[in-house]
Amino acid sequence: MYAIQPETPADYHEVEALYDLCFAPGRTALSSYRLRDGVPPVANLCLLYRNPDGVLQAAIRYWPVRVGGRKALLLGPIAVHPTAQGEGLGALLMLQSLEYAAIAGWSRVMLVGDAPYYARFGFSKLEGVVMPPPTNPDRVLGLELWDDAWVDVRGPVTREDGPKDEAGLAE
Ligand SMILES: CC(C)(COP(=O)(O)OP(=O)(O)OC[C@H]1O[C@@H](n2cnc3c(N)ncnc32)[C@H](O)[C@@H]1OP(=O)(O)O)[C@@H](O)C(=O)NCCC(=O)NCCS
Repeated sequence: MYAIQPETPADYHEVEALYDLCFAPGRTALSSYRLRDGVPPVANLCLLYRNPDGVLQAAIRYWPVRVGGRKALLLGPIAVHPTAQGEGLGALLMLQSLEYAAIAGWSRVMLVGDAPYYARFGFSKLEGVVMPPPTNPDRVLGLELWDDAWVDVRGPVTREDGPKDEAGLAE
């Protein structure tokens, strides 16, 4: 039985350690981290999974960003412990968190990642959405939670410096 839980402040360092294990050294030098620095994550979408022994196996986080001034969710990082990869945990966290995002009223989600993996959740390449360099544009992917949510949304991806607004409804 899989048990997905929200990430709490007590989980922070364990989640960071999981990300350090799963990603190449220097992950925080990636341009996507500049969009996260000093910005609180979207707490109700940051989820994790522990096995029955309490060992952290998988985690996903989200941040609010702006694209051409419009609100969007930045998905990631997502990681599954190497001993548990390929068992569906990544898909479980993706689907559960995206469902919560839709319920919370977020309309559009983006990420930087491997299209062959994320296409199965409905993500496709975003045209004209520009991450801070250096980012391969082919890895900038988007998903609409509302019909046509990415139509005519273009421009640079920037930090969400506005007041905390997790619902994403007040566009
Ligand atoms: C990518 C990741 C989150 C996927 O989670 P997971 O629980 O291992 O994946 P799932 O069990 O949900 O899905 C497995 C399927 O995804 C595929 N897959 C996994 N990573 C992939 C990738 N980078 N590109 C394409 N396909 C990928 C597997 O081949 C498998 O395919 P199949 O269903 O046809 O057999 C996990 O492998 C991971 O943490 N990797 C290291 C960190 C990372 O790369 N994070 C994502 C940044 S883009």
